[in-house]
Amino acid sequence: MSNSSVQFASGEFVPLEMHKVRVVQKLNLLPVEERVKSIEGAGCNTFLLQNKDVFLDMLTDSGTNAMSDQQVAAMSVADDAYAGSASYEKLYNTIVDILGTEYFLPVHQGRAAEHIISQAFVTKDGVVPMNFHFTTTKAHIEYAGGSIDELFTDEALKIKSNHPFKGNMDIDKLKAKIATVGKENVPYVRMEAGTNLIGGQPFSIANMREVREVCDTNDLLIVLDISLIAENIYFIKTREEEFKDADIKTIIRAMCDLADVIYFSGRKVSCTRGGGIATKSKEHYLRMRDMVPLFEGFLTYGGMSVREIEAMAVGLQEILDMNMISQSPQFIKYLVDDLDAAGIPVVTPAGGLGAHLDAKQFLPHVPQLEYSAGALAVALYIISGIRGMERGTISMDRDADGNDVASEVELLRLAMPRRVFTLSQVKYVADRVKWLYKNRDLVGGLEFYDEPKVLRFFVGRLKPNSDWTEKLVAKFREDFPEGL
Ligand code: F0G
Repeated sequence: MSNSSVQFASGEFVPLEMHKVRVVQKLNLLPVEERVKSIEGAGCNTFLLQNKDVFLDMLTDSGTNAMSDQQVAAMSVADDAYAGSASYEKLYNTIVDILGTEYFLPVHQGRAAEHIISQAFVTKDGVVPMNFHFTTTKAHIEYAGGSIDELFTDEALKIKSNHPFKGNMDIDKLKAKIATVGKENVPYVRMEAGTNLIGGQPFSIANMREVREVCDTNDLLIVLDISLIAENIYFIKTREEEFKDADIKTIIRAMCDLADVIYFSGRKVSCTRGGGIATKSKEHYLRMRDMVPLFEGFLTYGGMSVREIEAMAVGLQEILDMNMISQSPQFIKYLVDDLDAAGIPVVTPAGGLGAHLDAKQFLPHVPQLEYSAGALAVALYIISGIRGMERGTISMDRDADGNDVASEVELLRLAMPRRVFTLSQVKYVADRVKWLYKNRDLVGGLEFYDEPKVLRFFVGRLKPNSDWTEKLVAKFREDFPEGL
């Protein structure tokens, strides 16, 4: 039985926690006058804030999830050995059991898997079609000499939607793309579970089966990114009729059996660190294997500590529990539905990674090239201490001619790390977003004063393009004379 079986007599939907808190970390909530100094000192970039200055860290769900007591316990029995560690054996057996693959390569995190896969398979000028890109994926494919093409459906970028599978790939576009570029120029087709950049939106097994069919016809490989598979599986179970009575492992296998190479960031899916690459094919395995000792570490640790490896093995087993995988989607739904009901532009339906505010509608008076999603991140931090992540134009890099490229979606992501926040904290987020929406006219744009060429969103520095942050602080003080 899962928490969805618990009904509140009031009829209200409440995301009930099926765990209790046994270890806590103290939080700070600085006064608004100090928060504005912190964010301006951090180049108006939430990546550069000090965590001690952050109240609710909703930057990412990467490496910030709560571990279970079983994971922590497993870490203390880890078998420390450079080669042949028993901890690795546990992880390997778990991978075989859950994903159904025969070969496994451990790596230090998800992008290391992307590095190795791209170096092994991407050909110069090769085009990798995908349902949607992730920043590090795109960067690694381009680093290997290829490019990406996103073949999402028309529904994917609609902010308001009730489509159950916005992460689906558009099959007609896939066929057309292969015909235009020629199958010999397609190193592989990539599917990303729980499509990160469009809001943690899932794809269906039915869609992936169609992708498989097209790939079989054209003799192409499928590379599957399962960093967010747990939440995608939750949505398949709750939304795809064929799987409503299936157990979780059956659904995971249904998805993974359709792929040739599978990889993940353990920072997400297993609530640990690390990552890995799995495949059924000896040929593919051998094509990648020798890069692990070269870039990561020996084949039985791949740059991870043995403690991480133990915790990862347990964490992967835990995604077979509906109570575990429903936590984030249900908390996100609670927040998204509340904001949506208040008329705030938020991506719907709620996805599996966080709540995504649409900066184009939230701040229609701030042009995209003045980085409206980045400005929204700054404004929300100032008025709440909540740290979100810009997923818009700042997250794009300039084109080959040095022009700034307006992103298709201009979002502020408020990630929901697994099992971390309580419901009152989520209510605080909703309250402060609503206050900001009422006062949105006060928010202005940003401009770069220090701009890296690649992945500029990580360490680039910006400043407000007027005195709008001061005005926002003044209004906050007027409304909350004593409060934080
Ligand atoms: N693939 C997906 C779908 C991801 O979301 C991430 C990371 C990666 C690959 C790369 O993995 O960070 O372990 O190297 N996403 C993080 C985020 C960074 O904040 O969404 P990594």
